[in-house]
Amino acid sequence: MHVASTRRLLLLALAVTANGQVDYSPYVSPLIGAEGPLPGLAFGGGDIFIGGAVPFGVVKLGIDTFEANRSLATTNGGYTPQGNVTGISMMHESGTGGCPKYGVISQMPLTTVQSPVNLLDNSTYWQKRIGNDTAKAGYFKTELTNGVTVELSGARHAGILEYSFPSEEKHVLVDVSHYLPDENGGDCTQYYVDGKIDISDDNKSYTGYGTYAGGWNLGAPYTVYFCADFDTAPTQALAFNGANASIPNLSGKSRKAADSNDRVGALFSWSNSNASSIRSRIGISFISVDKACMFKDSEVPSWQLNDTVAAAVKEWNKDVFSRIRVDTGEGANQTNLILLYSSLYFMHLMPSNRTGENPKWQSNEPSWDDFYTFWDTSRNTDSLYHLIQIEAYESQIRAIIDIWRHDGFLPDGRSGNYNGLTQGGSDADNVLADAYVKGLRGSVNWTDGYAAMVKDAEVQPSIPNKEGRGALNDWLQYEYVTVNRNERCLSRTVEYSLNDFALSQVARGESPADVSKYLNRSAGWQLTWDHDVKSVNTTPVFTGFLTPRLSNGQFNSSGYNPALCGGCEWSSITYEATPFEYSFVIPHDMQTLIQFMGGVAEFEARLDYIFLPNTSQQDLGANGAGINTIINIGNEPDFQTPYLYHYINKQWKSVNQSRALARQFFKNAPYGVPGNSDAGTLNSWLVWQMLGIYPVVTQPVYLIGSPWFSDINMTVNGNRTLRILASGLGEESYFVQGVKLNGVQWDKNWFEHKDIMVEGGRIEFVLGDKIVVWEKGDVPPSPGHVELGNGTMGK
Ligand SMILES: *[C@@H]1O[C@H](CO)[C@@H](O)[C@H](O)[C@H]1NC(C)=O
Ligand SMILES: *[C@@H]1O[C@H](CO)[C@@H](O)[C@H](O)[C@H]1NC(C)=O
Ligand SMILES: *[C@@H]1O[C@H](CO)[C@@H](O)[C@H](O)[C@H]1NC(C)=O
Ligand SMILES: *[C@@H]1O[C@H](CO)[C@@H](O)[C@H](O)[C@H]1NC(C)=O
Ligand SMILES: *[C@@H]1O[C@H](CO)[C@@H](O)[C@H](O)[C@H]1NC(C)=O
Ligand SMILES: *[C@@H]1O[C@H](CO)[C@@H](O)[C@H](O)[C@H]1NC(C)=O
Ligand SMILES: *[C@@H]1O[C@H](CO)[C@@H](O)[C@H](O)[C@H]1NC(C)=O
Ligand SMILES: *[C@@H]1O[C@H](CO)[C@@H](O)[C@H](O)[C@H]1NC(C)=O
Ligand SMILES: *[C@@H]1O[C@H](CO)[C@@H](O)[C@H](O)[C@H]1NC(C)=O
Ligand SMILES: *[C@@H]1O[C@H](CO)[C@@H](O)[C@H](O)[C@H]1NC(C)=O
Ligand SMILES: *[C@@H]1O[C@H](CO)[C@@H](O)[C@H](O)[C@H]1NC(C)=O
Ligand SMILES: *[C@@H]1O[C@H](CO)[C@@H](O)[C@H](O)[C@H]1NC(C)=O
Repeated sequence: MHVASTRRLLLLALAVTANGQVDYSPYVSPLIGAEGPLPGLAFGGGDIFIGGAVPFGVVKLGIDTFEANRSLATTNGGYTPQGNVTGISMMHESGTGGCPKYGVISQMPLTTVQSPVNLLDNSTYWQKRIGNDTAKAGYFKTELTNGVTVELSGARHAGILEYSFPSEEKHVLVDVSHYLPDENGGDCTQYYVDGKIDISDDNKSYTGYGTYAGGWNLGAPYTVYFCADFDTAPTQALAFNGANASIPNLSGKSRKAADSNDRVGALFSWSNSNASSIRSRIGISFISVDKACMFKDSEVPSWQLNDTVAAAVKEWNKDVFSRIRVDTGEGANQTNLILLYSSLYFMHLMPSNRTGENPKWQSNEPSWDDFYTFWDTSRNTDSLYHLIQIEAYESQIRAIIDIWRHDGFLPDGRSGNYNGLTQGGSDADNVLADAYVKGLRGSVNWTDGYAAMVKDAEVQPSIPNKEGRGALNDWLQYEYVTVNRNERCLSRTVEYSLNDFALSQVARGESPADVSKYLNRSAGWQLTWDHDVKSVNTTPVFTGFLTPRLSNGQFNSSGYNPALCGGCEWSSITYEATPFEYSFVIPHDMQTLIQFMGGVAEFEARLDYIFLPNTSQQDLGANGAGINTIINIGNEPDFQTPYLYHYINKQWKSVNQSRALARQFFKNAPYGVPGNSDAGTLNSWLVWQMLGIYPVVTQPVYLIGSPWFSDINMTVNGNRTLRILASGLGEESYFVQGVKLNGVQWDKNWFEHKDIMVEGGRIEFVLGDKIVVWEKGDVPPSPGHVELGNGTMGK
């Protein structure tokens, strides 16, 4: 196994920096999620990026690998535990599924270029690794079988590499045509479009650009300019070009691709150098070579790798880790510290702040990219940004509204400056509504924000899965998505319902005349609920489920088993969760849902059932992460489901179920998250769990859970402090006995944003090992409550 032990002793447990700030970086284990259930393979794991990066950085510098078993190859983050290194590149995603994206602007250290090495065929020079990799916040180190040790660190638009060569012969290959391929050759695989490279007269630096397209979001071509230099002048530096696996034409100082089959690159060699180490700095830009050079020089001003590492660590501490401060003293539970700070790390690797780097239009608005995807992050990641990253969050919201202004639609996913893909609803609507109802105004142009949402709600996109709502034709005509005219009919119906609820919430302030229209449309899910359908192969039997419905109004319920989805793929009736699971995902109208499920007792029994072992009937393969319950915390639709006991005032059950899931599936280990981390979405779920609160997105509402630390200071709303205290916390002592908010005994199991998140304040928990039904007040609200009555047909 190549993955370094993440259980190593933390010698720096009490590390305090010179200015008295706590250094939380020793608690970051960037390898959590590196593996899936099969030891040594990334397959079924977090698909995470591992390497040098700063929070929301454009650059994520890390190794790209090729895995031997193509059918299990999972190279989305570039890194795999045992794959052969094909290059070390500047840009990566973290946690994404589908085809890899990026893995561009690379170098590769070689100790020979003699035959059989062919610079146009990475399989002739790729390298296994020796021993265990070392990964920390802002730092990565690996050793290749050719004896070269690679160390690296990343800044915002630049990075630094240090190669320690074992012998006299030293080469660095720059392959402009390098990118992360989809090893299975899927439809969404990336491809190289164009490239250019120029070497300076003194051989010490090179500049150019590469153009690439495709990847998980089926993106249009995008161009990245680069500017790099070496600390030691190469004695030889030659550009090359040629077709894949052909004999390269190696000569001269410049090359421009003749066409997309013409790969270009350069080979740098050192023969007279006594130095065993060669360092290189690389800057990238979406605008120009000059900007790439400027980033390199200003962001990596020193040839000492540790200086860039120190700057990155400082930034992580200042802008991320110190926003949630818990006790790191001797008595602290090290595992929980690692889970907390590593989770915070992973949820800040994406999106990328590309302000000033938008090649597509001129604007005074900020620019952000690498939204993967609002389908994932809208569930709870963006809501956490609202609390601890208000500046970045507002900036992101302005950026996506600007994307609507210039590209026509808000993104659901976006990468390489291109919208795509949409898996369910137009979930940026939920993010905007969540921000709006919690009072975020700042410099956001909400007139435009609402107009962008209306576009999602009213205009059918010409490419169905790119942006907007691909099944809007059905939604506008029937108020549900039909099974005969569209894919993912049930999951899209559920999501469009919440999207329209989101519109109704923003309409309250921006366009009051629209409120009732969108509120009514938010009840569309009720039209695809068959009150007579029964569960199959379950004890007890449950009645009433989301059920595929035809455009003629008939339910397609013959032989229907709501515990099956037919793979939960793009073409299935539901996406990444079964109808059984989606039947719980109506956060805006839990009141109607509970009634539809047969009332409080039936609802509770059904909820209890989905947590029982061996209840899952659908084989989800790698996506199932070995989970055998109906509830699958590895997939986003179920994120809020463990907390639904709140809606029947049994908060203790929410605490128990959610904590059990967290303990079972989230670990300080390479296989430490249950499936793709989805840009840190799984990680942010865990952060909320550890804080003891959970957001109800599109409402200014938080459900009260049970914290994992006895004292938490959170910086909220920019400069306010929310302190969360818990007395009586212990391994088995986590049931809430009582809660105070700002000194007031609280009898509801939820509170509102304005109660404590605007000015900060104090939540005081008393915990114990006894189950207590402590809440007596109103259950959490159902502001989207609409009574359509039974038998109401779509228009
Ligand atoms: C690599 O890590 C594994 C797992 O922690 C450990 O068993 C092994 O000894 C380490 N190998 C080396 C060479 O350090
Ligand atoms: C990985 O590279 C090594 C050389 O370092 C080679 O022997 C091995 O065959 C490669 N693995 C695969 C899967 O091609
Ligand atoms: C790849 O993995 C699959 C699934 O585990 C296995 O059936 C197959 O034999 C493996 N192929 C190779 C070449 O190891
Ligand atoms: C490396 O070589 C393999 C095998 O020829 C090829 O499929 C892949 O696209 C190449 N590039 C990378 C970055 O893996
Ligand atoms: C730069 O590289 C060229 C081509 O390999 C070589 O002829 C020349 O001597 C090198 N210049 C220096 C200053 O080393
Ligand atoms: C980096 O290492 C050099 C040489 O060991 C040392 O002088 C310098 O202080 C270090 N910088 C930092 C930020 O640790
Ligand atoms: C939280 O802040 C309070 C008030 O400044 C301080 O006394 C306490 O030690 C802090 N707790 C932690 C864990 O940082
Ligand atoms: C730390 O907390 C975890 C639960 O996250 C628990 O399993 C473990 O036993 C605790 N460790 C110690 C040393 O108390
Ligand atoms: C985004 O990047 C720009 C340009 O680098 C910077 O000025 C701005 O502060 C960044 N925004 C955030 C929220 O970090
Ligand atoms: C919002 O943007 C629109 C143009 O897209 C502009 O007409 C309007 O004045 C802006 N509103 C505010 C409050 O800035
Ligand atoms: C927080 O920042 C706001 C806006 O800059 C300022 O008005 C307020 O006084 C600050 N509050 C504290 C507690 O520092
Ligand atoms: C809808 O039908 C269900 C089951 O047939 C019934 O329990 C419920 O009371 C009905 N609701 C309305 C509003 O008629």
